[in-house]
Amino acid sequence: MMQVLIRAAAGEYQVLVGRGLIARCGESLRAAGLDGAVRLIADEQVYQRYGQPVEMGLRACGYSVTSFTVPSGESSKSLETAAQLYDWLVDVGTERRDLVLALGGGVAGDLAGFVAATFLRGLRLVQFPTSLLAQVDSSVGGKVAVNHPRGKNLIGAFHAPSLVVADSEALLTLPPREISNAMAEIVKTGIILDAPLFERLESEAESLLRLVEPGIEQIVARCVELKARVVEEDERERGMRAILNYGHTIGHAIEAVTGFESYRHGEAVSVGMVGAATVALRLGMIDAAVAHRQERLLRRFGLPVSCPGLSPDRLIEAMGHDKKLSQGQLSWVLPKGVGCVTIRRDVPLSAVREVLDWLVTR
Ligand SMILES: NC(=O)c1ccc[n+]([C@@H]2O[C@H](COP(=O)([O-])OP(=O)(O)OC[C@H]3O[C@@H](n4cnc5c(N)ncnc54)[C@H](O)[C@@H]3O)[C@@H](O)[C@H]2O)c1
Repeated sequence: MMQVLIRAAAGEYQVLVGRGLIARCGESLRAAGLDGAVRLIADEQVYQRYGQPVEMGLRACGYSVTSFTVPSGESSKSLETAAQLYDWLVDVGTERRDLVLALGGGVAGDLAGFVAATFLRGLRLVQFPTSLLAQVDSSVGGKVAVNHPRGKNLIGAFHAPSLVVADSEALLTLPPREISNAMAEIVKTGIILDAPLFERLESEAESLLRLVEPGIEQIVARCVELKARVVEEDERERGMRAILNYGHTIGHAIEAVTGFESYRHGEAVSVGMVGAATVALRLGMIDAAVAHRQERLLRRFGLPVSCPGLSPDRLIEAMGHDKKLSQGQLSWVLPKGVGCVTIRRDVPLSAVREVLDWLVTR
């Protein structure tokens, strides 16, 4: 098992990464000094597979556990579902000292985290991320949210977990598309922060896609460490944390114009990274080899590198509604090389337009 310590403003917490951690989850909670009754909030599909082992593992260590499942999928990340969860937490007599445990992918984590952040002005949160995306990204860093009908993640909070338990064995039941989806965020981490990580992805892409150990566990732990470094420096996204949005300016626009249905988030970010690298190339910030290496790797992970048929006008309009807009200016996270990015607010619309025209027709 690997452990990564994260220092959040509200206190330190451990991220545990390893195989078979779900079965031993009660011990991990005890070791972290977490007591109180457990309110388990789980993705329905994930609960069918892992709910019982989690509940048994907790009860074996003396925890009282009550569970609530929410339908799988983004539509559960809503105020309506949060309201159902509040009702349930009241019904089962939840107190301030109790724990919310999120079991599932980023949807369950963000939703349960939002409920934990707000119920009784804040309950402690434990994350059991079961998707690769949740393990490398959403369970770490303390951002929690639900969606508003007019935009994703518009209603949220910063609420750091008290413990994150990432069991790599759970990843084995993930559909292949979900693995590829997460690989986009992993490639992103390599480009923005860590050239050796990027090189490792280049040398092991196919075995990582098959989740071969110990590679995948090490990659998860490395991504957590890197995200932790960024978040520790800028927990509330006032500066450096924005680099995590590499590929997201175009990526969010693609998700918005396609109604969040055709592209998984990582797939849209993959196209967005190709777009951002091409913008950087046009601005003379990188040479073509960097853009080619990134695109080749994304393709090997089965990720899209273009968005044929979408309207550049609608994409530009959607970018204008992005919440990453600051004082009317779009922020672009652009690569300066592999492992290094910068933020630019002066990207000419003409360059963006040319890149979008290319992405939708290639
Ligand atoms: N808070 C953050 O910092 C942050 C960062 C990135 C993404 N997010 C959010 O995360 C969400 C996306 O997360 P996601 O990709 O994990 O989506 P998800 O939670 O919808 O999970 C994807 C699918 O995989 C299934 N699944 C999960 N674990 C499984 C397992 N072990 N075996 C079989 N199936 C499994 C789920 O049932 C679901 O159908 C989005 O809502 C996004 O906004 C949040």
